[in-house]
Amino acid sequence: MENFGCAENSKKFSCKEKEAGNKTFDSVAEIAASRGFFWPTAEIYPDKLAGFFEYGPNGLALKNNILKIWREELIEKEDIIEIDGCQILPKSVFQASGHLKNFNDPLITCSKCGFKTRADKLIQESIGKEIPEKLSNEDYDELLKKNKIICPKCKSFFNKTERWNMMLKTGIGAESKEAYLRPETCQSIFVNFPRIYKTSRLKLPFGIAQTGKVFRNEIAPRQGLIREREFNQMEIEIFFNPEKEDEIKNFNEIEKEILPLYLKDKLQKVSSEEAVKKKVVKSKLVAYYLTILKQFYLKLGIPEDKMRFRYVPEEDRPFYSKETWDFEVQINTGWLELCACNHRSDYDLSGHQKVSKQSFEIVDESVGKKVLPNIFELSAGVDRTLYAILELTYKDEPKNDRTIFSFPEKLAPVQVAIFPLVNKERMPELAKKVYEMLKPQFKCFYDESGSIGRRYRRQDEIGTPLCLTIDGQTVKDDTVTIRERDSMKQTRVKIKDLVGELKK
Ligand code: GAP
Repeated sequence: MENFGCAENSKKFSCKEKEAGNKTFDSVAEIAASRGFFWPTAEIYPDKLAGFFEYGPNGLALKNNILKIWREELIEKEDIIEIDGCQILPKSVFQASGHLKNFNDPLITCSKCGFKTRADKLIQESIGKEIPEKLSNEDYDELLKKNKIICPKCKSFFNKTERWNMMLKTGIGAESKEAYLRPETCQSIFVNFPRIYKTSRLKLPFGIAQTGKVFRNEIAPRQGLIREREFNQMEIEIFFNPEKEDEIKNFNEIEKEILPLYLKDKLQKVSSEEAVKKKVVKSKLVAYYLTILKQFYLKLGIPEDKMRFRYVPEEDRPFYSKETWDFEVQINTGWLELCACNHRSDYDLSGHQKVSKQSFEIVDESVGKKVLPNIFELSAGVDRTLYAILELTYKDEPKNDRTIFSFPEKLAPVQVAIFPLVNKERMPELAKKVYEMLKPQFKCFYDESGSIGRRYRRQDEIGTPLCLTIDGQTVKDDTVTIRERDSMKQTRVKIKDLVGELKK
């Protein structure tokens, strides 16, 4: 959960650890830029803006693969439908959603040099302790004074704390009609709910998903893809009858799965069934969706011991949420939130119902009664997920004179690289034939330039799981070598058996 509350990293770090963490951010960003994953927008110009990034071919392939797995594991398996709404929405949407009033961060400005920053973040960094995010402006002023916190740039005092609304406003048409760039994708799911319900023949409970760009005018964007002003979300909104939150059809299929739940400074590893029984989570519905989210992140290669669901206490929760579990992964700087799991109750539908004066109630056929559905959401950041994957799969192997990204096969931008050992003796022709044969089934890359060692290293650097080499022996017996990225082991395989072997 972002910006409406909660600090993300509940573990605090010493200066040394923080420095090491920042170094990791910088080195991952540097590596990512040099290998075509992502880099700052308009980086060649002095007026480039902080908090904006571009994806290059490898980054885009990785991002698309994350979304592909999200669709396979969550959308298709769970029969969730997907929509594609607009990025610019009229003012009424955000009046109804509460964003115009509540989507604020505490802003402080230096009385002398005009430096602007977030009060909560500066206080947290200065005192090395979490503070609740739902404090008043006066509370922040008090904390700044009590802890003698001054401007880090010119050492002067700050002016009084103000509220900074993070919505990006725009004017539409010649008359410049007030509109806003969406700060979360889900609002169009809520606004369109009555029409989607009518046209899609849905029965409660059901899910509607959306992925795409969102925009937030962050005061202090930082740490690359972790806090951006333009980023991508993949959101799933589950609509259900609040009286039937514990009647989940497939619950028995996942009830033995372990949930790593972090609350009151303690990690509890309990089965979904136990979490419900012991009332650690609100309902079977909540336990079910936390479990399938965990399974999705396992598929992305996030190690199980590096993930947890952090219970977000009331004082840090977004105003629309009755219960929030943040899915977090452990990276070098601490725990990073990748997905906010919010029980939004009927907050959104009743808000839009009130402002639009249209009914959002539907009939729950299983009980023959009209209800205003409640919503549970899995709101994940695509870019943060991508960053976490890069950091967690990056390996420096000086003894092998290489660095690698050990992506799972399904995530890798290139799955199979094909090389002729030398550019003679029919090797390039044979290699191109193999490339054409494999291309329809795998993401392939053909490379004939540089030494073979250098070509292997280049593929290791972008996480390609398999490299095929066509050599002198291929010409004689139609076999090629398959070299596996992580172990660097090589095996010989007949060209006719390649597809089967690679699929294995
Ligand atoms: N619909 C609920 C919602 O938007 P959120 O916690 O504000 O909740 C969801 O955002 C996810 O979006 C976060 O868990 C995080 O992964 C990502 N996210 C939020 N702010 C971000 C930012 N400034 N830069 C990159 N990703 C961000």
